[in-house]
Amino acid sequence: MIAGGFPHSPFRIGPVEVPNRLVMAPLYEITDQPFRRFIRELGGPGLVVSEMISSEALIRHAVKAERMMAATGERPLSMQISGGRPEALAEGARLCEAAGADLVDLNMGCPASNVTKGGAGSALLKDLRLAERCVTAMVQAVRVPVTVKMRAGWDASQKARGEFLDFLRMFEAAGVQALAIHPRTRAQQYDGQADWTVIARAVEAATAYPVIGNGDVNLPEDAFRMVRETGCAAVMIGRGALMNPYLFRQILEPGLEVTLDMRVDAVLRLFRILQDLLEPREALHKIKKIGAWFTKGVPGGHTFRHNLHACDDAAALLGAIEALRRRGGAA
Ligand SMILES: Cc1cc2nc3c(=O)[nH]c(=O)nc-3n(C[C@H](O)[C@H](O)[C@H](O)COP(=O)(O)O)c2cc1C
Repeated sequence: MIAGGFPHSPFRIGPVEVPNRLVMAPLYEITDQPFRRFIRELGGPGLVVSEMISSEALIRHAVKAERMMAATGERPLSMQISGGRPEALAEGARLCEAAGADLVDLNMGCPASNVTKGGAGSALLKDLRLAERCVTAMVQAVRVPVTVKMRAGWDASQKARGEFLDFLRMFEAAGVQALAIHPRTRAQQYDGQADWTVIARAVEAATAYPVIGNGDVNLPEDAFRMVRETGCAAVMIGRGALMNPYLFRQILEPGLEVTLDMRVDAVLRLFRILQDLLEPREALHKIKKIGAWFTKGVPGGHTFRHNLHACDDAAALLGAIEALRRRGGAA
């Protein structure tokens, strides 16, 4: 048994109780309202984080950003915002709180250059003082807990100097109530392996708030190993849950086998939710994107993705999904 009762026991982020130790990572253009409903219904994560929402777009009342805040009946829900200006982040945090967020998360990890060139995402890791002003403005703006998701640093030399530990101390003083850490640097993007020793160092340094470990958890045993090796309070999973949306359940229910039928059912279930909540074209666009992730490494997956790409209506899509199921039957 791992200390802290992983994965079943609840944990707290300030006053917010998270019912278990598994967190669905924020994924841009994926962890929107339909996906969050889907992954919760499928069973597993105690907390699901929204996709990154630009605070600058929120304060302009841009329609896309406002739609990203849509949420009904999801508890607890964390909404993640990005930005590099304290005033915009404070207002963005207020808007998320008003839209029903139980937690507001600051993105200090996004490596995309269209985000960092505006001073947002992982660019904040280059400026401790600005990051402090951003975090403090958010903490002062809302009653709900403010959390941060960060990388291990901007580049290898910053990581080697251990500057992320200065950020951790700053978070504590500023009133941050949880930290998720993805221990690649910005320069690494998604290359190489996530260096979990960074998570272990963060756990040791952060005494005032829980540290959520993230990076390269693709199998149930990875989650247990991350907790054993780092002592993190919870495990956050991104790509692993896209390649296998049952991963959370497999961590909670050891021995659960995931069959091709179950994967096909997952694609169908997500498509129904997308159809329920989105316009038909948008639902089709999303299922093509996410359905492709769900079938990586699955027998018949390559053909399915090819067929999926060519679908231009729901009937064709349902045909492609059923063909994948039959392919499994024939295997
Ligand atoms: C398609 C995609 C979209 C992502 N979008 C976000 C985002 O909006 N906010 C964020 O903090 N991280 C984002 N990330 C990073 C993930 O949350 C996570 O930190 C990273 O994928 C490492 O975890 P994993 O190995 O479990 O995938 C994204 C990653 C991917 C692959």
